[in-house]
Amino acid sequence: MEQALQGKVALITGAARGVGAEIARQFVAQGATVIVADLDEPAAHALAGELGASAHGLRFDVRDRAGVRAAVESVGRARGGLDILVNNAGLLANGAFDATGGEAWDNLVAVNLTGLYNCVQAAVPAMRRRGGGNIINIASVSHEKGGGAFGNVWYGTTKAGVVAMTKGLGRELGPERIRVNAIAPAVVATDMVHQLLTEEVRARIVSRIPLGRLAECDDVARLAVFLASDWSAFITGETIAVDGGFLRT
Ligand SMILES: NC(=O)c1ccc[n+]([C@@H]2O[C@H](COP(=O)([O-])OP(=O)(O)OC[C@H]3O[C@@H](n4cnc5c(N)ncnc54)[C@H](O)[C@@H]3O)[C@@H](O)[C@H]2O)c1
Repeated sequence: MEQALQGKVALITGAARGVGAEIARQFVAQGATVIVADLDEPAAHALAGELGASAHGLRFDVRDRAGVRAAVESVGRARGGLDILVNNAGLLANGAFDATGGEAWDNLVAVNLTGLYNCVQAAVPAMRRRGGGNIINIASVSHEKGGGAFGNVWYGTTKAGVVAMTKGLGRELGPERIRVNAIAPAVVATDMVHQLLTEEVRARIVSRIPLGRLAECDDVARLAVFLASDWSAFITGETIAVDGGFLRT
């Protein structure tokens, strides 16, 4: 059977675990070469080792502009360019508006917004060399209401920025055959939310989701494959919710 991402080179940030790791797994299964780019270097190498010869672990900090540029250039040189960037690395902020101190806010913006700026600025030249490309941003349903079940107003604000970035870049980069889309998941039971997800909280959240369960990493990864592939060739600038109907309630 034909693989949707055969011959494509993809860099996925924050891919050592959680949502990003599942996207890496499914991209490799669909024929892509995947750079597992994560702050947690041992975990990035461990996952790459598990995924086989088509995956490569890389220490990568989305906050470090010069480091991101150097890493993307070296990936481009080694692999003849870059086809797909998945901006998945993200931090959560939780609780009332005054629960997030100034330092935590700075770091939240540095990862959730500046990190995307750094990665996009570095990746687009490498995509131009390939004659086109594909950027997928991981937003959150919390962009819609300025905060959600866990993500607070500051988290929701950064994710709203991700959605705006997706719309504008989709428009600007379309003529260069670079598509830009975002995925907005509802709660996914990863390490990011693990400590907050008591049985009671889980039941309360699930009761508000028409399809009656939390999101799985697999739900997000399958949409990422669709958006990264030619199956979605005429879709750009869009943010698609993976939320079991939560935003429609
Ligand atoms: N889990 C959820 O409920 C949920 C819901 C909606 C959206 N999201 C979004 O999905 C994405 C992935 O979330 P997850 O639940 O898999 O998170 P996670 O915390 O399980 O994994 C995040 C990964 O990002 C890496 N990372 C953190 N800072 C980094 C940096 N500066 N540079 C590079 N890598 C860095 C971490 O080492 C980790 O491997 C995030 O953008 C998150 O905001 C998650």
